[in-house]
Amino acid sequence: MQLLNSSNRYGLVSVVIHWLVALAVFSLFGLGLWMTDLTYYSEWYRTAPSLHKSVGIVLFAVMLLRVLWRFLTAKPAPISSHSATVRMLSSLGHGLLYLGIFLVMISGYLISTAKGRGVSVFELFEIPAFITGLPDQADLAGAVHFYVAWGLVVFAGLHGLAALKHHFIDRDSTLKRMLGCGPK
Ligand code: HEM
Repeated sequence: MQLLNSSNRYGLVSVVIHWLVALAVFSLFGLGLWMTDLTYYSEWYRTAPSLHKSVGIVLFAVMLLRVLWRFLTAKPAPISSHSATVRMLSSLGHGLLYLGIFLVMISGYLISTAKGRGVSVFELFEIPAFITGLPDQADLAGAVHFYVAWGLVVFAGLHGLAALKHHFIDRDSTLKRMLGCGPK
């Protein structure tokens, strides 16, 4: 499998990043919901938020790489059987997924830095609190983080269902080419 995208399918780097990001987004969402219900006496009370933040920062780095990769290797051409509307909706949907991920990550960072503390990444290094002390920073960032995260997982679920519809009902190569197979 080639590293770069071709005009017909995604290359190894795009495929690996796509599925890693999908796994990270759904896992961080589940972890985020679960950890907010933990009590002080749970052994995960401190570990879960620190894991959530560490994976979130790594995801941010991966997303920057993904954006950079989009400039280095062109997206495959749309599948010829897709109508102009499907092409437009798919580009819009992908754009919204990118926007949602960045909004959730940035708001998460702003919750953590509201009181001037940086974000430790697996206790290996720390991202300093560059933005801190804004009015109602923690509350506003918390609301954005919560609602956009919900919107993102629901939308990503619909995006996944659309991919399955292309595969099982339309029987085109939309899903196959994001799995690294299909026409070269
Ligand atoms: C949080 C979960 C997900 C996110 C954030 C996400 C995001 C994206 C984005 C941004 C693209 C555009 C290509 C790119 O920039 O890499 C894309 C393409 C694609 N995704 Fe996802 N995705 C997610 C989950 C899924 C799932 C669960 C499936 C399938 C069941 C799926 C199937 C596909 C397919 C087939 C494409 C290629 C579409 C095309 O060629 O037009 N994605 N995804």
